[in-house]
Parts: sequence; C-alpha cells; structure tokens
Amino acid sequence: MAFNLLKGKKGIIFGALDENSIAWKTAESIHAEGGSFVLTNAPIAMRMGQIDELAKKTGSEIIPADATSVEDLDNLVAKSMEILGGKIDFVLHAIGMSVNVRKGRAYTDEKYDFTTKGWDVSALSFHKTMQSLYKADAMNEWGSIVALTYIAAQRTFPDYNDMADNKAYLESVARSFGYFFGKEKKVRVNTISQSPTPTTAGQGVKGFSNFISYADKMSPLGNATAQDCADYTVTLFSDLTRKVTMQNLFHDGGFSNTGVSQEVVEKFTE
Ligand SMILES: NC(=O)c1ccc[n+]([C@@H]2O[C@H](COP(=O)([O-])OP(=O)(O)OC[C@H]3O[C@@H](n4cnc5c(N)ncnc54)[C@H](O)[C@@H]3O)[C@@H](O)[C@H]2O)c1
Repeated sequence: MAFNLLKGKKGIIFGALDENSIAWKTAESIHAEGGSFVLTNAPIAMRMGQIDELAKKTGSEIIPADATSVEDLDNLVAKSMEILGGKIDFVLHAIGMSVNVRKGRAYTDEKYDFTTKGWDVSALSFHKTMQSLYKADAMNEWGSIVALTYIAAQRTFPDYNDMADNKAYLESVARSFGYFFGKEKKVRVNTISQSPTPTTAGQGVKGFSNFISYADKMSPLGNATAQDCADYTVTLFSDLTRKVTMQNLFHDGGFSNTGVSQEVVEKFTE
C-alpha cells in the first residue's frame, strides 16, 4: 500500500545485505512511497551480499563505506548530496555486529579487542555518521535519522552478549545527538527497538529460533516483522512525525510492556 508519504524525499540507507535485511525491506518501502536514496554498506558486504539487485530494483546508486571510517563517511555524505542533487531528508542506520558473538565468546569471557571493534561498528558508527552529516550541514530541516536497536539495552538477555551494551550506547547517542540536531538543524533522531527478526545479524545470536518464538508468544500482537519495521520507519521519515525526537520507540507487538502471556504460562502449567 503506497501513500506517496516520501515523495521528493532523499536519503541514505545503511545495512542492506540481502533480502532478509531490515534495511532491504525498508529501501523497498521507501521506494514505493516515492523516496529516493543512496545505498551503502561495508566494502566486504558488497562482495557477500546482493545489494546490486536492490539498487537496480529501486533505481539507486551504491557507495561503499565502512561505517567505522570517518573518511568513508565524509565521502559518502558528500557523494550522496551530489548524486541526489542536494541535502538529505532521511538516514537509516541498520548496522550491527559483535565479534565476541561471532567467535562464541561468553559475556563473562570477552576479548576486549573484539568488544572495541563491535562497539565501533554497532554503536560509535552512529555518532560518526551523524557527525559527518552535521559538519557537512547535509540534512534538510525537518529531516529524520533512525537507528535500529533491541530491548536488551534495557533488560538482560544473556545470549545477546556485548551487543546489549552496544545498543545502550547507541540509544544514548540518539538522545545526545538528537538534542544538537534538533536545536541547530530541526532534525529528529530516534531509535526503533525492533522484535527479534530472522536476518543474518539476528541469527548470529545463540538459540535465536527458540528465542524468536518465545518473543512471539509474549507479544499480544506477535513479533513485528522486517516489513512491519520498514512500514514504521517510513512513518518516521514522513512529515507526519515531525515532533518525535530523542526517543527509543518500541516496535515489538507489545513485548516490552508484557509481564507474562497466557501462552507462556500454559507452558509451565502442570
Ligand atoms: N534481527 C534482529 O533480531 C534485530 C532486532 C532488533 C534490532 N536489530 C538491528 O537491526 C539492524 C539491522 O540488522 P538486520 O537484523 O537487518 O541484519 P543484517 O545482517 O541484514 O544487517 C546488518 C548490516 O550491518 C552491516 N555492517 C556490518 N559491519 C559494517 C560496517 N563496518 N560498516 C557498514 N555496515 C556494516 C552488514 O553488512 C549488514 O548489512 C542492526 O542494527 C540490528 O542490531 C535486529
């Protein structure tokens, strides 16, 4: 269903790796709503993923950028403005990776080089992205910046490991930068706290398939899918949400406010 909510709006989308990626679905939805954008991902992901296919489908150009490199980000922002013909209205940060998780290290046995790398990729990259945009004065007034996060930032989910700390940092950066972006440029900054979703990054978490069904049974509306997240993000990029900023917005079918559900209680009924 398209409403032309993003007609004439221009943006940058990070993190579309394959068709399961939340960023991939979001790019398709933004395209359907009349928005145009540059796609970006880490150079290594270009080789592994299928981003060319998405670019073709949506008439977009791709600019590789490692989101931990300020030089790459500055180049991305400058080139995006050239390609799109002016300032930017929306940015989606959909990036996450923990080296400790990948290497099977427990939270109580972190290798701190891994921790630092994962934090840089998953959390500090959001600050770096916004700083590049801010310094280049690249955002249009009433623009909108969104990053994706997970409720492990507020509550403990043991297997989410150091990503929980990365997400807590990411959400804090959204509030802090949101203040300056709001004051100086009338730009809003929010995080969407999404249900567990079967993507490459999601499936890296131990016990993910049991966990996703637990979350589904705990959520009165069921888990929010990647497509649901894309739809929600479209609203945050539209002009209908201009005064929403510095928020962590739960998009999880009600999971975050549910103590226990009937289905879960029944599992424990003797
Ligand atoms: N899948 C879930 O269960 C879930 C739930 C809540 C939030 N999220 C968040 O959603 C976002 C998108 O993840 P996804 O689930 O769509 O998985 P995904 O694996 O499809 O996307 C993660 C992306 O991060 C990119 N990336 C990694 N290192 C990078 C770097 N150095 N520079 C630039 N890009 C880099 C990857 O190439 C990939 O495209 C992440 O922030 C993730 O934490 C996911």
